[in-house]
Amino acid sequence: MSSQRKKIDLRRITRRSTLGVLGIGIPSGIWAAGIEPDQLSLTRKEIILPRWPKALDGFTIAQLTDIHYRPGTDDGMIAKLHEALAKEKPDLITLTGDFVIDDPSSLPELCRELKGISAPQGVIASPGNHDRWHCSTSNLRKEIEGTGMTYLQNQATKLHIKGENVFINGLDSIWAGRPAPARAWKGHKKNEPVIALVHEPDPFDDLHLARPLDLQLSGHTHGGQCRVPLIGYAPAKVKFGRKFIYGHFHKGDSQLFVGRGIGTVGLRVRFACPPELVILTLRSASS
Ligand SMILES: [Fe+2]
Repeated sequence: MSSQRKKIDLRRITRRSTLGVLGIGIPSGIWAAGIEPDQLSLTRKEIILPRWPKALDGFTIAQLTDIHYRPGTDDGMIAKLHEALAKEKPDLITLTGDFVIDDPSSLPELCRELKGISAPQGVIASPGNHDRWHCSTSNLRKEIEGTGMTYLQNQATKLHIKGENVFINGLDSIWAGRPAPARAWKGHKKNEPVIALVHEPDPFDDLHLARPLDLQLSGHTHGGQCRVPLIGYAPAKVKFGRKFIYGHFHKGDSQLFVGRGIGTVGLRVRFACPPELVILTLRSASS
């Protein structure tokens, strides 16, 4: 083959490759920026807990996390959440932090939007690193409790249902707050199942050894926010969210569920990792 012919072939291959990359890249970019961030997905998961009371078999928890509210842009997503929660009717709703991105004025706006979210056993929230970086504790408590939710920052509450006690606590953000497990577990009585709201998932490794912990609910990672389709690899890692990026994990008698969350940080893009409302159904091992 002459060198002139080789050059022409190379140019053709290069042109086709470029068109191929653009052909995949441009639609993917439009999808990631313009479509997927508004696609609310629903994940249902059954979790068998060894210490969960038989009387509470089938108890449902909606887990919401990482709303990272962008006023004016995310209102459609909040409306979808209201609709999905009204349809699912969970027994309890939990929010595991990161209500804001970096603007504290978005918190009262979000709280106005969240008003009306309710469940028979209540709505319980704990803080995330962005909340603790950009909002004061007093504002977080005032705004979140103003919606009728319970706000737990190194604190606990107990549910009393069908003669059973369930201990629910919320730890302060590991990254941006002052986590105090001794305070968060204060008042826990042996045999009470513990559900811990902990924004960052990686402390599960230590917490499950240090404290009674049946189920930890976390977010923080956004499931990676953009993943490689089919293989699910998430290239972007975040501090305190490197070991448990998404899904259900076991360590001893303790379990962890990490949700993908609702919102985004940085560019408002998601790819192969849509916003997620999680409905967990807790099962008793003795049923
Ligand atoms: Fe987040």
